Amino acid sequence: MSLVLGLETSCDETSAAVVEGGRKVLACVTASQVDIHRRYGGVVPELASRRHLEAFLPVVDEALTRAAVSPLDLDAVAVTVGPGLAGALVVGTAAASSLALAWKKRLVPVNHLEAHAYAAFLESAEDAAPSADGRGRRLPDLEPPFVVLIVSGGHTSLAELTRHVELRPLGETRDDAAGEAFDKVARLLGLGYPGGPAIDRLAAEGDPAAVALPRPLLKDGGLDFSFSGLKTALVYHLAAARERGEPVEVADLAASFQAAVVDVLVEKAFRALRLTGCSTLAVTGGVAANRGLRRALAARAAQEGVTLAVPEPRYCTDNAAMIAGLAHFLLAAGRPSFEEPLRVEPSLALGGGRKPRGRRGARGRGGGGPGSQRREASARRRR
Ligand code: KG4
Ligand code: ZN
Repeated sequence: MSLVLGLETSCDETSAAVVEGGRKVLACVTASQVDIHRRYGGVVPELASRRHLEAFLPVVDEALTRAAVSPLDLDAVAVTVGPGLAGALVVGTAAASSLALAWKKRLVPVNHLEAHAYAAFLESAEDAAPSADGRGRRLPDLEPPFVVLIVSGGHTSLAELTRHVELRPLGETRDDAAGEAFDKVARLLGLGYPGGPAIDRLAAEGDPAAVALPRPLLKDGGLDFSFSGLKTALVYHLAAARERGEPVEVADLAASFQAAVVDVLVEKAFRALRLTGCSTLAVTGGVAANRGLRRALAARAAQEGVTLAVPEPRYCTDNAAMIAGLAHFLLAAGRPSFEEPLRVEPSLALGGGRKPRGRRGARGRGGGGPGSQRREASARRRR
C-alpha cells in the first residue's frame, strides 16, 4: 500500500495530505486564502503566490503530524504541476522538489484537473450514504470505467475514466466554467466572493421557477456546455425589472440561476452515461459541493438505477488528498515519476495536452481579481 504526501497550490488553497493506497485519507490540511482575495472580488495571482510561500511548510507539518507519519514512511511526494496560476504552481513545485530531494523520495507531477476525478475514490470517516440532502456516498470499491463530471471554477468537463489514469474527454464548456458563472452571477447580485457558496445558501430560500432562464445547449444532443449566456440573461432581467420599477427578489434569482445550471449539468452527465454505456457517475470539483446539484443528482441516480459517487464537499473543492490519490494510481501504472526540474504547465488540459489558444484561461475564475485573467492570458500569449 503506497503512502503518498500530496501537495496542492494551483490557485488559492494551500493544501497537504497523506493518503494510503490512493483511497484512504490519513490527513488533509487545507489553508484557504479566501479572506485575502475576497476584498478584490476574485483571486489575485501575486497575493496567492506569496500566501502559498507562508502557508506551505506549516500545512505540510500539520498534515504529517495529524496522519502520525514520518517523512521516512512516505513512498512519494506528489504535487500539482497544472493547470493553475503560474506563480502559485511554481511555489508548490519548487517546495515539493526540495522536500523530495531532502527526503530522497520519488516526486510525482500531477494534473490538477485529472486529480479532481480521483477525489471520487477518497474515503474518510465523514463519508455518508446517499440521503435526501444529497450527500455523497462512500464507495470504497469504486473502479473504472465510469463517467466523471468535473465542475470547478476554471473547468466544466465530462470525461470517461476508461481505466485507471486513462481519461477520455467527452465534452467541456465552450465559454465560462460553471463555478465561474456562479461567481459572476453572485457579483452581479451583490453577494460577494466566492459566489458559489453564497448562491447555494440563498437559493434554499428562493423559488427556482420565479425567473425563466435559458438552459444553454440542453437540446443540442452533445456533451459540451455554455454558461456565459445565463449571466447575460440575468443582466437583461435585472435591467428590465429596474426599468419597470419592480423590486428584485435576490433569493428567487439565485434559486432560478442555480436551477438552470443544475438542469444542464444533470442532463448532460446522464446523457454521457447513456452514450458510454457506463452505469456509474462521479461528480467532483468545487461546484459539486452545491446542495441543489447534489440533491438533483441523487434523485436522478435513484430514478435511473445509476451508482453515484460524489465526494464530501471538502474533497470537491481544491485539496491535496486528490493529488496524492491520483499519484498512487500513476505510480501503480508505472508512469515515470521523476522529472528534475519539474516544469509547471499553467494551461494543462485533461489527457495531458494543453488548452488550445483562444480558449478561456485555465483557472479563469469569475472576476479573477483585478486584471488577473488578463494577466494570465497575456502570460499565455507570451509563451
Ligand atoms: O474546484 P475548486 O475549489 O477550484 C477550481 O479548481 O476552480 O472550485 C471553485 C469553484 C468556485 O467557482 C466556487 O464558487 C465554486 O467552486 N463553489 C460552488 C460551491 N462551493 C464552491 N459553487 C456552487 N455551490 C457551492 N456550494
Ligand atoms: Zn480545482
